[in-house]
Amino acid sequence: MNISAAITAVHGAVPEKVLSNSDLEKMVDTNDEWIVSRTGIKERRIVSDGETLSDLGAEVVKGICEKRGISPLEIDMIIVGTVTGDYRFPSTSNVICYKSGATNAWGYDVSAACSGFIYTLITGQQFIASGQHKKVIVIGGDIMSSIVSYKDRNTCVIFGDGAGGVLLEPNNEGNGIVDSILKADGAGKEFLIQKAGGSAHPVTEENIGTPETFVYQEGRTVFKFAVTNMADVSAEIMEKNNLKSEDIDWLVPHQANLRIIDATANRMGLTKEKVMINIEKYGNTTSGTIPLCLWEWEKKLKKGDNIVLAAFGGGFTWGSVYLKWAYNS
Ligand code: ACO
Repeated sequence: MNISAAITAVHGAVPEKVLSNSDLEKMVDTNDEWIVSRTGIKERRIVSDGETLSDLGAEVVKGICEKRGISPLEIDMIIVGTVTGDYRFPSTSNVICYKSGATNAWGYDVSAACSGFIYTLITGQQFIASGQHKKVIVIGGDIMSSIVSYKDRNTCVIFGDGAGGVLLEPNNEGNGIVDSILKADGAGKEFLIQKAGGSAHPVTEENIGTPETFVYQEGRTVFKFAVTNMADVSAEIMEKNNLKSEDIDWLVPHQANLRIIDATANRMGLTKEKVMINIEKYGNTTSGTIPLCLWEWEKKLKKGDNIVLAAFGGGFTWGSVYLKWAYNS
């Protein structure tokens, strides 16, 4: 039988620097009222010069180890969900292992846009389930400010920077990750993409600084797919596991847009009190949103709580995870 993988610690890290809606009003043709009513976002965090994803990730690893009372040297593996790693290569996982002192660990990065954390979590689960590893840290984080154009009001108001992560360990008390549904449809790639910079469209003298070197999003199309798919996949995991609304203690939705979160919660029959929402202060940190929520809500979570994670992102990628919380903090 597979070994159950449970989250046993969580930590988050966000840059100090705040970029508010009023700051953005001075940069592009937008206003606080539009941003709040369309997205729910009031401010987001942005890295300062020289601050990197691996800095935030190393802070996450150190925070997790401190909380759990272990040395970074005990970590077997670090997997990082991101589309804005420090470099094309080496992987940000490698750099985080080095910066955090987790020098006995190996790992790699996973690219799934806003579904990065749940894809990575389920990847990490496999190494615990197989018995191969005992301590796997899974991080989701992005420095979206590095790929967003602050001349494009369609995207710059949405995104922020941040990272969070969890420690996965074997559990024999019936808690941990119970089930997951992960999906992908590459037909959606044109609607949410950073076109240039990969091997299909390298950055050249001709395209440098042009819109294709930044994030492009066809907001309305992505919105339609996100609302439907995130709600569907959350309802599907409830059905599959025979869960009624009253059985669920928390929904942890990817924080892309308050309206998408509301639609998902409604479909699941959940009241607002059961939904983790912090989009107003961090915006959409891509892979970072779900672990940043878990970090902020950690003290309220109780052993045995039924939690559903749900995400939708570029690719398109989407999915849901059902887990039972494994500890009281
Ligand atoms: N300020 C003011 N006006 C704006 C702004 C802005 N920042 N941005 C767009 N507008 C204008 C548009 O130009 C448009 O004007 P028009 O009607 O004159 O053409 C109008 O506002 C409406 O634009 P829409 O794009 O239709 O606005 P919408 O209500 O769809 O909101 C948003 C846009 C917030 C981007 C929404 O579509 C959305 O949340 N999409 C989904 C995002 C998502 O889930 N992404 C997936 C995860 S991200 C990832 O994977 C990296």
